[in-house]
Amino acid sequence: MVAGEEREKLVQGLVSAYRAKAITYNPSKGKTIPQHYVDRTRQFFREIHPFIQEAGFQTRNFVEEGSYQFYNAPVAILAAMERCFSRSRLMDIGFAAQNLMLSAHALGLGTCPLALILTCEDVIRKELEIPENQEIVLGIALGYPNTDSPLNRFKSSRDALNEMVTWKGF
Ligand SMILES: Cc1cc2nc3c(=O)[nH]c(=O)nc-3n(C[C@H](O)[C@H](O)[C@H](O)COP(=O)(O)O)c2cc1C
Repeated sequence: MVAGEEREKLVQGLVSAYRAKAITYNPSKGKTIPQHYVDRTRQFFREIHPFIQEAGFQTRNFVEEGSYQFYNAPVAILAAMERCFSRSRLMDIGFAAQNLMLSAHALGLGTCPLALILTCEDVIRKELEIPENQEIVLGIALGYPNTDSPLNRFKSSRDALNEMVTWKGF
């Protein structure tokens, strides 16, 4: 959990590295993701675009630079896993992250899971003195949501359940 001056230093380092590396978010990641998911991501951006515009931002800059700034949330959370564990234990991080985000929501707080920041993992590791035997797997922004922002009126659309679930024997 990172706040105050430490958070400021982390964000400054991340934003400088992002600008220097000219990182851009690309849902297809060199075409390793099936087209359906690329299309869903594009659809998401089409849907959120008017809300980002109404809030006075440019979409790509908002998402990319916003991610590296933890969307201005006062608390940055970094989850790391010791490398000695098998990849399947990443589920534990997922469960803990989900529990944290649901608990925060129940307390009136907002969260945003962030993976784009992992492109500047070296900066996070250096600023937070995270040892090499730990793999940084997820960032989470935590703070009270700005209820006046048009962005908080946005609700992303969902695929139908049947797109994801195969029903057998029902
Ligand atoms: C593992 C993971 C990593 C994510 N990384 C980012 C990120 O780096 N930047 C970002 O803006 N959104 C990121 N997102 C997406 C947002 O956090 C998204 O708004 C959130 O999952 C809630 O979406 P929903 O309300 O549409 O379900 C990520 C989501 C997940 C699950």
